[in-house]
Parts: sequence; C-alpha cells; structure tokens
Amino acid sequence: MHAEITQEIEEYCEAHSTSEDDLLNRLDRETNLKVLRPRMISGHLQGAFLSFISRLLRPTSILEIGTYTGYAALCLAEGLSPDGTLDTIEIDEELEDIIQKYFNQSRYKEQIILHIGDARTIIPTLNKKWDLVFIDAEKKEYFDYYEAILPQIQQGGIILIDNVLWSGKVIQEVKENDKDTQSIIDFNKYIQNDQRVRNLLLPLRDGIMIIEKL
Ligand SMILES: C[S@@+](CC[C@H](N)C(=O)[O-])C[C@H]1O[C@@H](n2cnc3c(N)ncnc32)[C@H](O)[C@@H]1O
Repeated sequence: MHAEITQEIEEYCEAHSTSEDDLLNRLDRETNLKVLRPRMISGHLQGAFLSFISRLLRPTSILEIGTYTGYAALCLAEGLSPDGTLDTIEIDEELEDIIQKYFNQSRYKEQIILHIGDARTIIPTLNKKWDLVFIDAEKKEYFDYYEAILPQIQQGGIILIDNVLWSGKVIQEVKENDKDTQSIIDFNKYIQNDQRVRNLLLPLRDGIMIIEKL
C-alpha cells in the first residue's frame, strides 16, 4: 500500500474511533514538543487498541517494558481490575519527570508503579504472575524480555509486542549492518515456531504481535 494512503487510512480510522481523552491528548502534545524521538509514542489509535484489549481482559497484573513518556501505560491501565496494578519499566531516567507528571494526574495513579532501570535486571525482581504484558523497548532485546517474562505469565495470559513489522523492513532485503531488522525477523520466526503460545501478527501501525500463552 502506498505510504500516503496508509496515512490517510490511519487518519480515517482515528476519526471513526472514540476520541483520545484530555490527559492523553496533552501528553501526546507535550511529548511531541519537548521530548526526543516523539515517534516512539503509541498515539491515539494504538493506545485505543491497547486500552480495548485491557478492558476486555480486566487484568489484575500488567507489565509494560519501555514506558517512554507513559502514554501506553495510561491506556493499558484503563482496563485494570479495581485491585489490579500496572508495573512499567523505563531505562532512561531523564524521562522520569514527565512520566510522573502525567501518572500523577491519572485516576489510576495509585495502581501504576514506575521502575527506572534496565528491564532485563528489573523483571527477575518483580515477583508477580502477569495477565497482560506489553513489550515495547529495545528491539535487539525482545528475545531476552520474552524469555524472562514467559514463565511469569498465567496460562491464557496475553503478551503484546510492538513494532514487529519495523516499517515494512521485515519483508525487504536486510542491509548488512541492520541489526534491528534482523533481530525482529528472527524474533517473529521464533514466535511462529514456539509451541508454548498461539500468535497473531496484526498490521496495526508498525505491527503488533498478540501472543496467548497456552
Ligand atoms: C518505543 S518507546 C516506548 C513507547 C511507550 N510504550 C508508548 O507506547 O508510549 C521504547 C522505550 O524503551 C526504553 N528502553 C529501551 N531499552 C530498555 C530496557 N532495556 N529497559 C527498559 N526500558 C528500555 C527506551 O528508553 C524508550 O523510552
């Protein structure tokens, strides 16, 4: 599909989806104005999708790997059961102020726990069984996060993994030094052959893999 049509289709989808709430809208704008690499934010359509999945599942424990400015965490929190919690991990301590600023304005603030540090060291310290996990951090580390969290997922638990189409590069010839694309291609293949899970790759935005633990 031509890139401009994709953009138009995305705008049409946004225009026919429930509007972004005020907090998310302000966070999106501040991220775009003040934070480096704003393209990393989930944004309206993907955020609404994450919120929908979470509200369908009503999870007690959610884990997000890669908080950035907190947009997806706020969307995922919308489905939490009343006694549920969401843990989110971000390696970049410079993002802590903006993340906390918006978490503090959320009605879910008491249920969201922010961890600053490397997910690969923090995950083993979180002694929880996850109902829903969103992986959205360093692409070359997807395999490490996946293997670290799979034993901590309940049967029937769901993992969502972002950017698995990597701007369409997964179906193009990989340049010799393009480690990110190769990592994602290898990761997608690994999931496809993993007998422990059922998986669905959706072409939403940059590609989301939905995985159910069997
Ligand atoms: C694509 S952004 C996350 C976007 C966010 N989930 C959202 O939808 O708004 C990826 C984030 O992962 C963080 N990150 C990268 N490697 C990490 C690691 N090993 N542990 C924790 N966070 C990491 C980056 O600093 C960056 O903020």
